Amino acid sequence: MTDWNEHVERILLSEEEIATTVKRLAEQIDKDYINEENVVLIGVLKGSVTFMTDLMRAMKTPTKIDFMKVSSYGDSTISSGNVNIVLDLNRKNLPSENLILVEDIVDSGRTLKYLVSYLLNKGAKSVKTVTLLDKPARREVDYTPEYVGQQIDNHFVIGYGLDYSEKYRTLPYVGVIKPEYI
Ligand code: PRP
Repeated sequence: MTDWNEHVERILLSEEEIATTVKRLAEQIDKDYINEENVVLIGVLKGSVTFMTDLMRAMKTPTKIDFMKVSSYGDSTISSGNVNIVLDLNRKNLPSENLILVEDIVDSGRTLKYLVSYLLNKGAKSVKTVTLLDKPARREVDYTPEYVGQQIDNHFVIGYGLDYSEKYRTLPYVGVIKPEYI
């Protein structure tokens, strides 16, 4: 049986470091949303799933949850530039809802920049973003998430939801993949 741990060159964020980071982000968000009603965490599938389930349990703010999925390729219902929405939100009370988009990683910035403007145009009361990881060196559009767990250099990272070719999402930490497995 393949052990995916053996495909990891080094651990970038251990389980303990992730837990500390998630707690800090949850506290920041709780502080900012203390006076808000109708907060909804929106996970951007699939990479955000692990982070989202930890974050929502670390937050004290009562939140609903929902999911979207975007892709640069494949089947799509709505398209703009490089970002295709393959699973859209279908919420009845969007004008009263404060959305927080949850991402595992921001790279070029295209996904979140597009989604924030798409959801505001769709009528959301407010839209902010939280990401576990940010790779500012890879930015192609001007976009800064409100809440960032850790900034990282331009490594190919896997684990804690992040994949390479759909593998490694289930590893409990964030690691750098060995080059021979790319
Ligand atoms: C990753 C990540 C973000 C996006 C960030 O998703 O989860 O959604 O890329 O890149 P950007 O800043 O350049 O737009 P991916 O397309 O790998 O899908 P996945 O979440 O299903 O792994």
